[in-house]
Amino acid sequence: MLTRRSHTTPSSEITPRDRYLRRRDWLRLAAAGSLASLSGALTACSRGADEPGSTLGLGKITGAHTSPLSTDEAITAYRHATTYNNYYEFGTGKSDPASYARQLSGEPWTVVVEGEVAKPRSFGVEDLLRLPLEERIYRLRCVEAWSMVIPWIGFEFNQLAKLVEPTSKARFVEFVTAAQPENMIGLRSSVLHWPYTEGLRIDEAMHPLTILAVGMYGEVLPNQNGAPVRLVVPWKYGFKSAKAIVRIRFVERQPLTTWERAGPGEYGFYSNVNPAVDHVRWAQQKERRIPNLVANRPTQLFNGYGDQVASLYAGLDLKKFF
Ligand code: MTE
Repeated sequence: MLTRRSHTTPSSEITPRDRYLRRRDWLRLAAAGSLASLSGALTACSRGADEPGSTLGLGKITGAHTSPLSTDEAITAYRHATTYNNYYEFGTGKSDPASYARQLSGEPWTVVVEGEVAKPRSFGVEDLLRLPLEERIYRLRCVEAWSMVIPWIGFEFNQLAKLVEPTSKARFVEFVTAAQPENMIGLRSSVLHWPYTEGLRIDEAMHPLTILAVGMYGEVLPNQNGAPVRLVVPWKYGFKSAKAIVRIRFVERQPLTTWERAGPGEYGFYSNVNPAVDHVRWAQQKERRIPNLVANRPTQLFNGYGDQVASLYAGLDLKKFF
C-alpha cells in the first residue's frame, strides 16, 4: 500500500463522541455522495430545513441500537474518515476514493451468498437493512500504521450466516467485491488483482465482533467507505475489511486473498493486528491516530480486542501465521 502525508489538524478537530452528529458533519455528508436511494430502514430525511440531514440525498439509518461492544474513545471527524481512504478500485491516493467513488453504480445491488450452505440466496440491500442493526464504534487499524475510530452501523455477520445455514464443510468465508470497469478508474491499473477479494476462517467470520456495515455516523455508507455493504473486522488490519461486497462464499479451502496474491511475504491471510510482527515497510509497534502525523500510540495486540478474540488463536504461532 502506498502512503501519503496528510496535513496537520489540531486535536480539537477530533470530534467528541457526543457531538459527532453536528449539523456541520451532516452537511458534509451531502457533499460526499452516496448510494443513498435505499429504502427499508432508511428515512427520507424529511425533517425541517435546519435539522441535520434535512436536505440530503443520503439516507439516515434509524433503529440501530448502541452496542456495548463499542469503544468509548474519541470518534474520528467525519471529514477525515471520508477523505483519507484506501480503495484501490478508485486509485491508490488517499483522496482518490472521495474524488472518484461517486461514480460507483449501486442499484440494484445484490449480495449473492453461496457455496457450502444449505440455503443459498441473494440479498438486496433492503434485506440486509432488516437484520438487527447496531451502532458499533470500533477502532480501525491500517497496516500502514494509522488508525481511526468509526461509528459503524451494521449487523453481525453470524446473523446473515444463520439465514443460509452453512454446512459442516464450510471452514472459510470468501468475500468478493464489486468490479465495475466503466465506473472504477483503478481497474485500469494492474496494481492489484480484481475483483478485490478477502477471506476469514469461519470462526473469525462468526465471531460477534465481525460485522457487515451498511452505514456510519448515522447515515448510509458513503461510496468511498464501502457502500452499500462492507466487512468490518476490528482486530485485523484494515485491508481485511472488504468494501462493496457482491458475493459471499462459504468454502472448504482457505481462499487466496487479493493482498496475499500481491505480496505473500507482506500480507498474510490472518493479518491480525500485532505489534510484534512488523510489515516489510512499516513497523507496527506504534500507530498514529488520524489526523495526527506522529505515531505515538502503542499498537495493541489484536487492536485491543484480545479479551474477545485471543482464544480463536490458542496454540497458533502468530509470527508464522501473520
Ligand atoms: N475494499 C476494496 N474493495 N478495495 C480496497 O482497496 N482497501 C482496504 C479496505 N477495503 C480496500 C477495501 C484497506 S487497505 C483499508 S485500510 C480499508 O478498506 C480502509 O477503509 P476506510 O477507507 O473506510 O478507512
